[in-house]
Amino acid sequence: MKIAFVGKGGSGKTTLSSLFVRHLAATGAPVVAVDADINQHLGAALGLDDETSARLPALGERLAFIKEYLRGSNPRIASVDTMIKTTPPGEGSRLLRIRENNPVYDACARPVELDGATARLMVTGPFTEADLGVSCYHSKTGAVELCLNHLVDGRDEYMVVDMTAGSDSFASGMFTRFDMTFLVAEPTRKGVSVYRQYKEYARDFGIALRVVGNKVQGQDDLDFLREEVGDDLIATVGHSDWVRAMEKGRPLAFARLEDGNRATLRTLQAAADAMYEHRDWDRYTRQMVQFHLKNARSWGNERTGGDLASQVDPAFVLREQPVAAQPA
Ligand SMILES: Nc1ncnc2c1ncn2[C@@H]1O[C@H](COP(=O)(O)OP(=O)(O)OP(=O)(O)O)[C@@H](O)[C@H]1O
Ligand SMILES: [Mg+2]
Repeated sequence: MKIAFVGKGGSGKTTLSSLFVRHLAATGAPVVAVDADINQHLGAALGLDDETSARLPALGERLAFIKEYLRGSNPRIASVDTMIKTTPPGEGSRLLRIRENNPVYDACARPVELDGATARLMVTGPFTEADLGVSCYHSKTGAVELCLNHLVDGRDEYMVVDMTAGSDSFASGMFTRFDMTFLVAEPTRKGVSVYRQYKEYARDFGIALRVVGNKVQGQDDLDFLREEVGDDLIATVGHSDWVRAMEKGRPLAFARLEDGNRATLRTLQAAADAMYEHRDWDRYTRQMVQFHLKNARSWGNERTGGDLASQVDPAFVLREQPVAAQPA
């Protein structure tokens, strides 16, 4: 299951992503955590010290390697130079699974110990000033988008992505790649402002979007969020002394997280798990093709000097257990 945490800067995306990852890992489920946020803090939130966080391999620096692996023997992709972040898989492409070992994880993922459980962590790498310009910015998260488009994940296994809610993720199609998107919102006008924008895209593309209230302090906060986002509000997290202790560098065992916040994490998992029945790999594949063609037209063809529409394998549908291609 692919799950994104999005929201306004400072809303608590990284905090809630990390708590959710800890929760899933504690159930024994395989988890790949991905830091695709401008502020790269997921490693720290998962308890890594600064030195270890700084040494994590950056996906953004290994883009060519990732492309080369995923391309496999796909005859429609002539070289990594013509492969852009939205180039969809086709016959011959290599796919990724949550539970396997593969060269991409070897190069880009690191295990993180979480109270006896383990999750894999992948990070895009730090964003610089230059990355915030349109196309370069994409190349950092492009590696994540490629992984999502080549991932054949099943039930009870998770990829959790800590992500910005910027317009960039709308342009790239990245926001359509999740079984469930949790929008983290504080009970303030600014906090819910991102929700409205996201909601529109979600409606247009059939995306499952739920709001998680953060730093919710009482009935007034709850009423405010209810009024602003209605039934999309799925659960709330209050001020957490557990999180604060972590911030002080005095982490507590995960078992000591407040009961109310643990209940919220269970609610989030149940909501994500329930989406399994609604999966539609045809739609998933169709949307990646749609965004690829859009990118091809707007900059990809010009950049690569080819017609990137020819990379689309019309017969290919990404699915959990790929059916072997029938000989012609
Ligand atoms: N429920 C909470 N209880 C206590 N502290 C919290 C809670 N949620 C978030 N915080 C604190 O608020 C700050 C911002 O949270 P966080 O870094 O998770 O936000 P973010 O949305 O990821 O921010 P950014 O946009 O900078 O990536 C952090 O210091 C975090 O520890
Ligand atoms: Mg963050």
